[in-house]
Amino acid sequence: NAKTIQVKLVLLGEAAVGKSSLVLRFVNDEFQDNKEPTIGAAFLTQKCRLEDKIIKFEIWDTAGQERFHSLAPMYYRNAQAAVVVYDVTKAASLDKAKSWVKELQRQANPNIVIALAGNKVDLVQPAGEGEDESFEMESGRQVPTEEAKAYSNETGLLFFETSAKKGDGVTNVFTEIAKKIPLE
Ligand code: GTP
Ligand code: MG
Repeated sequence: NAKTIQVKLVLLGEAAVGKSSLVLRFVNDEFQDNKEPTIGAAFLTQKCRLEDKIIKFEIWDTAGQERFHSLAPMYYRNAQAAVVVYDVTKAASLDKAKSWVKELQRQANPNIVIALAGNKVDLVQPAGEGEDESFEMESGRQVPTEEAKAYSNETGLLFFETSAKKGDGVTNVFTEIAKKIPLE
């Protein structure tokens, strides 16, 4: 007999980082290899059941292409939660994510819960074992986990790495946000 709370959540981030793919994974547990870019925004809902409450997420999945940037305030205004997404294989996408975080902190609800999600971790090849030291680095990765984690801690964001393709970490993003929403 848990109480249901509706929570407006917005996804922001550079084009092609995988915002729509994260939502598709969370809502339908599906993945599409050649997902078409979002035009304007898409709206989906999904529930998240916790012990003491049910959170019904009303999700606005925004378009990352620059020509849609001016629409974003319509979607983050009144949002109680935001997921700002970057691609761990593309350093510039973290810069874009940081600029979205700044915009949210200036213009959105001051109590908004913000999560940073580094997506596409399935494209990172794990570090090789010993022998040749030059093989110790992960390949494919452009954003070290520790760098994004440190930035998130400084800025007061939840931090996750995800793969919409494999499903890793995706539900966790939404569950951890749900836990942060007060029972009012
Ligand atoms: P816009 O709507 O243009 O802002 O893009 P988006 O952020 O919604 O990205 P979208 O979900 O459309 O994904 C872009 C491309 O990346 C698609 O071809 C996806 O299949 C692919 N993709 C998304 N997530 C992942 C992932 O976790 N791993 C891999 N390997 N590819 C992914
Ligand atoms: Mg999209």
